[in-house]
Amino acid sequence: MKGLILAGGYATRLRPLSCSKPKLLFPLVGVPLVDRMAAWFGRGGVTEVILAVNHLSDKLRVDVSRRRLDTKTVLSVEETPLGTGGPINLARPLLDKDEPLIVANGDVISDIDLRGLITVHARSGAEATIALVSAEDPRPFGLATLDANDRIIGFEEKSETNRGPGWINAGVYALTPKVIAMIPHGRPVSLEREIFPILASQGKMRSWKHTGFWYDIGKIPDYIIANRQLLQRVEFRGTTSVEPSMPMAMIRQPSYIGENCTIEDSAKIGPYTILSERVSVKRGAEVSETIAFEQTTLGENCTIEDSVIGEGVTVGKEAMIGKGSIIAGQVVIPDRAIIRTGSVILN
Ligand code: GDD
Ligand code: MG
Repeated sequence: MKGLILAGGYATRLRPLSCSKPKLLFPLVGVPLVDRMAAWFGRGGVTEVILAVNHLSDKLRVDVSRRRLDTKTVLSVEETPLGTGGPINLARPLLDKDEPLIVANGDVISDIDLRGLITVHARSGAEATIALVSAEDPRPFGLATLDANDRIIGFEEKSETNRGPGWINAGVYALTPKVIAMIPHGRPVSLEREIFPILASQGKMRSWKHTGFWYDIGKIPDYIIANRQLLQRVEFRGTTSVEPSMPMAMIRQPSYIGENCTIEDSAKIGPYTILSERVSVKRGAEVSETIAFEQTTLGENCTIEDSVIGEGVTVGKEAMIGKGSIIAGQVVIPDRAIIRTGSVILN
């Protein structure tokens, strides 16, 4: 069975971090989202994943080809953004003609049971089966209305009127080739606004209610929350603790130290600190509640609190980065600089 990840668009809500890094390469507890999603697809029985991208697709191509993902991946690149439906049309030559396609939004991390969803989809004879999660406020999402048998009888994207708790679209679907044939050609199409409401009104849509973890990391605050909460799960954190080669460094848990990081003596890390691979923490640096992307250098005696540091950033000696700051990729923070609380530093 094949899968497709919708990973285009401009990820404006993740700027400035997304200016130099496609969403799929954002680290989630130190490991790129695409790796985590490929592994999840693989566990669900998907054998090939199509990455439907446009923005920064070359970066993604280079990165994905360099690393070994758990599931085979191929890229399908749009010239101009085609919404959530158009990219599926574009990938049609790559799809199986008589099997459902598993589609996932490329900013969602969850432990949705794909095998369960696929089984229900096959048994029910529905044209589309979509995973749902419950939300207190459904307005930023797609809201489904269900009948007593969990059939979806209504679907409304970004409803203004329904404020109460409800079942929302988790951004994970099984779609039959018939649904894919319904998607108009040659223009951007929204699955959620143009296709799902029709299928729901025709009674051709089934739901798969998910009660495990689920995060849409498409906005920076949500990205940070997802990292902090998933850090507490052993399947994300792994079993890394203090490396024996750094006996004098102090690491407060929960924290995650990626591969090939170097942490010098007397550095203090954590709690809730996530270092991607190849991060270098110099002597005396104090880094708490912070996410550092790959290949950052956190200088001697610097202090960093509750911030996100983009890839390749260098933080100078004795620099101070105040709470809630976001530093774009490749920025150099000079020695002894003071970055005020809540700053966004662009490249
Ligand atoms: N290839 C491609 N081309 N992908 C796109 C495009 C495009 O033009 N536009 C958006 N996408 C991708 C995004 O990268 C994202 O992974 C996914 O499609 C959904 O788009 P978002 O912009 O993140 O939508 P949303 O978060 O506001 O709402 C969607 O997700 C919610 C769950 O998180 C909808 O599917 C809602 O119904 C759903 O509840
Ligand atoms: Mg989203």
